[in-house]
Amino acid sequence: MKRLAILASGSGSNAEKIMAHFQHSEKAEIALVASNKAEAFVLERAKKFGVPTFTFTRKEMDAGTLLEKLQSENIDWVILAGFLLKIPVDLIRAFPDKMVNIHPALLPKYGGKGMYGNFVHEAVKAAGDTETGITIHLVNENYDEGRIVFQASTPLTSADTPESIADKVHALEHKHFPEIIDGLL
Ligand code: GRF
Repeated sequence: MKRLAILASGSGSNAEKIMAHFQHSEKAEIALVASNKAEAFVLERAKKFGVPTFTFTRKEMDAGTLLEKLQSENIDWVILAGFLLKIPVDLIRAFPDKMVNIHPALLPKYGGKGMYGNFVHEAVKAAGDTETGITIHLVNENYDEGRIVFQASTPLTSADTPESIADKVHALEHKHFPEIIDGLL
C-alpha cells in the first residue's frame, strides 16, 4: 500500500476528489493532508474523510519540520494540490520523481513566479487565448519545469471571464487529477 501526502494551502477541492478516489483503493491511501494555513478549508475536508492533518509555518517547513513529518509517516508520494509555498530543495530531493503538482494552465504558458490561482486565469483572459487547460507534472528543483505527465485543454470564447475560466479549469482538474495520480503509482 503506497502512502500519499497531500499538501494544500486553500480550499482543497482537488484534495477532496483525490481522497474520494483513494478511499477504497487497495493500491494507495491518503495518509496525511498537510497545510501551511491553519484555517485552510482543506483541513475540514480531510477530517470528513478521517485523514490525519498537519499544519506548519513557512519557517518550520524551511527548518525541516515538514520533511521530518513526511519521513516519520513513511510517505511514498507527495501530491501538491494548490500548495502555494516554494518547497525547500532538500524536501524535493527526498522525493525524486515522487512529487506531483497540478498547474491550472497549459505549461510552459503561464508558469513561473506569480502565476498561481486567479492570476493565471486573468492572464489567459487578457491574452485572448482560445483555449486553456491543466498540466500535471513532476516537481524538480525548478518548480514548474519538471517532466509533464499529462495535459488536457478546454476551449474558451470571448465571453469567458477569469471566473468562468477558473470553473472550466477546476472541472478538468477534478476529472483527471485523481486518475493520473493513480496511474503514476
Ligand atoms: C487549482 O486550480 C490548482 O491547479 C492550483 O490551485 C488550485 C487549487 O484549488 N495549483 P483547490 O484548492 O483544489 O480547490
